[in-house]
Amino acid sequence: MARLTGRKIIITGGASGIGRATAHLFATEGAAVAVLDRSAEAAAEVARAIGGTAIAVDVADPASVDSAVAAAAVAMGGVDGLVNAAGIFSAAGLLDSTADLFTRTLAINVTGTFLMIQAVAPLLRQAAGATIVNIGSGVGLTPTGPGSTAYVASKGGVIAMTKAIAMELAPDVRVNVVCPGAVETPMTAGFIRDSSGEFARGIIRRYALERAAQPEELAAAILFLTCAESSFVTGIALPVDGGRTFH
Ligand SMILES: NC(=O)c1ccc[n+]([C@@H]2O[C@H](COP(=O)([O-])OP(=O)(O)OC[C@H]3O[C@@H](n4cnc5c(N)ncnc54)[C@H](O)[C@@H]3O)[C@@H](O)[C@H]2O)c1
Repeated sequence: MARLTGRKIIITGGASGIGRATAHLFATEGAAVAVLDRSAEAAAEVARAIGGTAIAVDVADPASVDSAVAAAAVAMGGVDGLVNAAGIFSAAGLLDSTADLFTRTLAINVTGTFLMIQAVAPLLRQAAGATIVNIGSGVGLTPTGPGSTAYVASKGGVIAMTKAIAMELAPDVRVNVVCPGAVETPMTAGFIRDSSGEFARGIIRRYALERAAQPEELAAAILFLTCAESSFVTGIALPVDGGRTFH
């Protein structure tokens, strides 16, 4: 029996990378999936491939979030799961970060996650076994070094907010956050590889497993936290990071 049979799940950022891999896995596991992304064309391509629904959204815009969530609920006949995988990255450090960059990063990564949860929560509360999985980052637990100031702040925010919301939505909805290490996606394509196309050694040597992850390895962890196999798990920040943050 597939692990998500009958589930109705919204995946933001579902057009690319971790969200895309999660959309494919969830459909394989029997879920109806609404692929929400600001890239409408790429979302439509994923939705076509998995037999899901594509809906354009800017997660940082409250009106856009409200109408996208309403459209997803109509398309699927309800919503009982949410994966917040939409996000942006910046490597800029303290002195290179502008106020605009900082505000924009928090607007998408933190406010976007908040707005999605706020819009979906009333639907999730009516459903049995409802779940939310946010995507934080290992850098929100332990920064890798200097740089990425706004991004690190945003991911620390997502992790802390997840725990607060897990308390607020309990016992109706389980809320967890996955904290990836480096994952091979379009987000990291430009900086985790060096000029020869190899993973930058300075990044990879931080990982006990000496490699970056494939997005499917993150999708598997997100599946665990979404399906009934994790029915007694809420409020956790799960590192899926090849052993970067445990030591
Ligand atoms: N790739 C990594 O190494 C890594 C590591 C740690 C955490 N993460 C986190 O995982 C999540 C997914 O990252 P990814 O690597 O798959 O990136 P990605 O760039 O491949 O995908 C991100 C998706 O989010 C969408 N998006 C961006 N802003 C949006 C907005 N305002 N509204 C709606 N959609 C928007 C993009 O269009 C894109 O489809 C992000 O939160 C990222 O910070 C990634």
